[in-house]
Amino acid sequence: MKIIKLEIVMIIILIIILVISIIVTLMTLSLIIGLIMTGGVPFISTSKKDFQNILEAVDLKPGEIIYDLGCGKAHLLIYAAKKFGAKGVGYELTLWPYLWAKLKIYLTKANVKVFRQNFFKADLSQADVVFCYLFPAVMAKLEPKFSKELKSGNRLVSYAFKLPDKIADKVVITNNDHAELGKIYVYNY
Ligand SMILES: C[S@@+](CC[C@H](N)C(=O)[O-])C[C@H]1O[C@@H](n2cnc3c(N)ncnc32)[C@H](O)[C@@H]1O
Repeated sequence: MKIIKLEIVMIIILIIILVISIIVTLMTLSLIIGLIMTGGVPFISTSKKDFQNILEAVDLKPGEIIYDLGCGKAHLLIYAAKKFGAKGVGYELTLWPYLWAKLKIYLTKANVKVFRQNFFKADLSQADVVFCYLFPAVMAKLEPKFSKELKSGNRLVSYAFKLPDKIADKVVITNNDHAELGKIYVYNY
């Protein structure tokens, strides 16, 4: 009897290990495919302790619409919706942060929408504020899109990486130890 019980426990443990391995493999695969789809921009979350600094730097107001281009798990957008009364819109190509974002939005009931779409194809005409945490090469490619689509009064806030040609109207240096990750660039259009 004891041996049968022990066997059942062993089988349950093996099933749990198998399920965890499958989930980890799928997450890793999704990140690798995401890297290929985004041309090498990895999924790395903005440091939570900088959410407030970023949204204060860009002076986000209640009712404004903030876009996060490459929103990852949409944590910044959820924060902006909950703490600043803004509406969030995110674009994310990598599957598992996108699914995580959908789940988090559902659970928190935050006023945020996310799309599994390439942000180069996004229409920015409804945005009041655009947030980016990307790479210098991607910022360079986005700069003409911003010049074309962002209207007077719109703001762009970029974490860590600046636009190559436009001069930032404000640079906030946070207490982060890392030289680039500590910088927040704000551009007024
Ligand atoms: C450094 S992470 C930033 C995540 C999030 N914005 C944050 O601050 O926590 C950049 C994200 O952009 C996504 N990404 C890169 N290029 C993209 C594209 N063209 N369209 C949609 N998402 C993209 C990547 O999948 C990645 O999750």
